[in-house]
Amino acid sequence: QLTPVLLCGGSGTRLWPLSRKSYPKQFARLLGQETLFQASARRLAGQDAQLSFTPPMVLTNSDFRFIVTEQLSEIGIDPGAILIEPQGRNTAPAVLAAALHLMKSDPDAVMLVAPSDHVVPDVAAFHTAVTAGLEAVKRGDLVTFGISPDRAETGYGYLELSAAPDGSGAPVSLGRFVEKPDADKAAAMLAAGNFLWNAGIFLFSARDIVAAFKAHAAGLIGPVGAAVDSAKADLGFLRLAPDAWSQAEDISIDYAVMEKAKNLSVVPFSSAWSDLGGWDAVWRETGPDGEGVATSGESTAIDCHNTLLRSESDTLELVGIGLENIMAVAMPDAVLVADMSRAQDVKLAVSALKGKA
Ligand code: GDD
Ligand code: MG
Repeated sequence: QLTPVLLCGGSGTRLWPLSRKSYPKQFARLLGQETLFQASARRLAGQDAQLSFTPPMVLTNSDFRFIVTEQLSEIGIDPGAILIEPQGRNTAPAVLAAALHLMKSDPDAVMLVAPSDHVVPDVAAFHTAVTAGLEAVKRGDLVTFGISPDRAETGYGYLELSAAPDGSGAPVSLGRFVEKPDADKAAAMLAAGNFLWNAGIFLFSARDIVAAFKAHAAGLIGPVGAAVDSAKADLGFLRLAPDAWSQAEDISIDYAVMEKAKNLSVVPFSSAWSDLGGWDAVWRETGPDGEGVATSGESTAIDCHNTLLRSESDTLELVGIGLENIMAVAMPDAVLVADMSRAQDVKLAVSALKGKA
């Protein structure tokens, strides 16, 4: 049996003004009728011919706990456990807490760790990839999922394949994991041709990831272990102990473990995947027409090219005329207008507005 572990603590500042500190992008209806969190939970729920999932474990913070329960109940999924982190400490402590908690009830647990803000439209293809990854988990490997890169992105991890994939979708062992390279290194890895992007989805047994933490990030074991051991049940939530948790280093699993571990395998994933890392990605996923125009909500584009117009209110008409390479997102209380090439700079708006955003 496979336990989905949904990470749901990030704030998604590059999708301001839809994504807010109090209501980040994973909970918003960005594409279609379901929120990204709901689609992620559904992708990792139930059973089909290939896989059988236990109810999901969710890791989030106190502010989002009722959004999590409400959104899960809307789609009829009962969570297995909802762990509340007293503060965001990034993904390494969160994953370690999940593993230690799971091992209390099932020492042989296998976990599929997934962000709750990604788009993976072909669920069957994803399940096939996970099924393939389970073979490597049986050998004691930590499994990542790899996406073919099409640009020298610096915001992703890169996975160096030690052999060319044979096209069967079987796991390939990893030479190296390079988290968020600088621009020169990213360009070199793209040119080299034997690197995939890390999709940020991980598959391993709880026992093996705890062993990897002991080997490569031993300083986390004490505080995170104590936070799990002294966690308090609270109305269906499990609150990790704040004093111990505050001693845990703020670090991602990529830097803490993946860059250092040797027992890594990657399953190449050739189906569509996006982490919706900016409005340009949303524009791409919203299906721009022949002129490159994507509109949603009450928006109208006249003579526009390569433009995203998005109104998030029924009473707010958004009209663009003669626009080129523009993204405009209108909320009842905030409007973003930016050049499409500046999608990554939207986080600057959030820091410029400080508490107000
Ligand atoms: N529960 C919890 N607590 N979740 C968290 C926390 C936390 O403190 N911090 C981040 N998350 C969640 C985010 O909401 C997101 O769903 C996921 O963990 C990954 O965190 P990001 O902050 O989005 O990581 P990233 O995008 O910079 O990099 C990761 O993902 C890339 C692919 O999207 C890395 O794994 C890269 O190697 C990878 O390429
Ligand atoms: Mg991300």
